Order: sequence, then C-alpha cells, then structure tokens
Amino acid sequence: MSKKLYEKMNLYLANQEVAYIKLHNLHWYVKGRSFFTLHAKLEELYDRTAEIIDAVAERLLAVGQAPVANMKEALALATIKELADKPISSEETVQGLIADVEYWIRDTKEIVELADAAGDGVTADQFNDYLGEYQKLLWMLKSYIA
Ligand SMILES: [Fe+2]
Repeated sequence: MSKKLYEKMNLYLANQEVAYIKLHNLHWYVKGRSFFTLHAKLEELYDRTAEIIDAVAERLLAVGQAPVANMKEALALATIKELADKPISSEETVQGLIADVEYWIRDTKEIVELADAAGDGVTADQFNDYLGEYQKLLWMLKSYIA
C-alpha cells in the first residue's frame, strides 16, 4: 500500500522539479500588457515550488525513501509538458498554468487518498495543505482571465 504512495510522491516531486524550470520559462518569455503582473506572479509560484520540492523530498527521506534528486531521472519520470524557449502570450500563459494546476490538484488528491489508506496522516496533512493552496490558485487564475 505505501509503495504506491511513495512512487506517486516521487512522481509528484519529479513533476514539481520540472515545473520549477517551466515557471521560470514563463516568467522570462511571457509577453503582453499583463507582463508585470504575470512576471511577478510566476516568480512567487516558482519560489513556492522550490519550498514544496524541498518539503516533499524531506518527507520522503523521513519515511526512509529516496527522493528523485537529479534532472535526468526527474525528466524520465515527469509527465508534465515542458515549453519551448520562445515568447508566449499572457492568455496562453494563464491557460497553461490552469491546466498544470488542475493536474497538480488531481495528483495531490490522489496522494492524500493513498496516504490516508496507508495510515500516513502526516503525509496526508502535508498534501492536503498543497491541495487547498492549488484550489485557491486555480480560482484566482480563472478569475484573472474571466
Ligand atoms: Fe526574475
């Protein structure tokens, strides 16, 4: 039961490691009238992603697991799509973020369920916090382009 949980946590970690660079890509390449707003928001998001990467890796270590800690492995595991190094409109940036955040929500929900089933309340609590954060972020992103 916990084997599936830890595999899923490592997959989540790999996706966040890739997302960290992807958020920089958008931070650098976003264009348009919303540049200043999105540029700043994306910096906030990659800073938060760095904290989450560290917390997830350290939780895996605390339960005796080996977190993915190199990009080659992370890319082999990751399922999120990266972006080309080219300008992207504000609209496409936000639409892409919404799609990724919806993905993070599905992933964190699944990890909470697996952690509950494995009797790992600490991991369930940790990912429930992320879930709440992502749900709030999704609402804000949708409001931004409404
Ligand atoms: Fe910057």
